[in-house]
Amino acid sequence: MYSQKVMEHFMKPRNVGVIEDADGVGEVGNPVCGDIMKIYIKVKDNRIVDAKFMTFGCGAAIASSSMATELIKGKTVDEAWEVSNASVAEALEGLPPIKMHCSVLAEEGIHKAINDYRKKQGLEPWAEERGAHHALHTGAAETQETRS
Ligand code: FES
Repeated sequence: MYSQKVMEHFMKPRNVGVIEDADGVGEVGNPVCGDIMKIYIKVKDNRIVDAKFMTFGCGAAIASSSMATELIKGKTVDEAWEVSNASVAEALEGLPPIKMHCSVLAEEGIHKAINDYRKKQGLEPWAEERGAHHALHTGAAETQETRS
């Protein structure tokens, strides 16, 4: 079911841990499965010089965090912003369709960490895209609205 790359990053995840003096931290969760991901970035001269993660979640979420942190390290903040869940999944040589949402957490975590960094720099946060892959969150919000 999983590619070799996913298994490799699940069994030996890269960049697990906390950056104590992080320049940006992004914490995201999926309300449906309850999984949580926290991404830490260290930025120097607009470049991500280090990235770490802590993920409480499924194997695909752990592999996605591992790959996502690998992908953003060395990139400029602008380039890292462009790392989508699709590019994380592609770098993992694919994810099963029902596990694609796990890679969405990685994209959201990166965006949150970057915006946290931007806010700390006194910059305007960038608009976090609300694409189709955010349907789960929208769905949750709609449910709440329906209830109230
Ligand atoms: S099942 Fe929740 S992130 Fe994978």
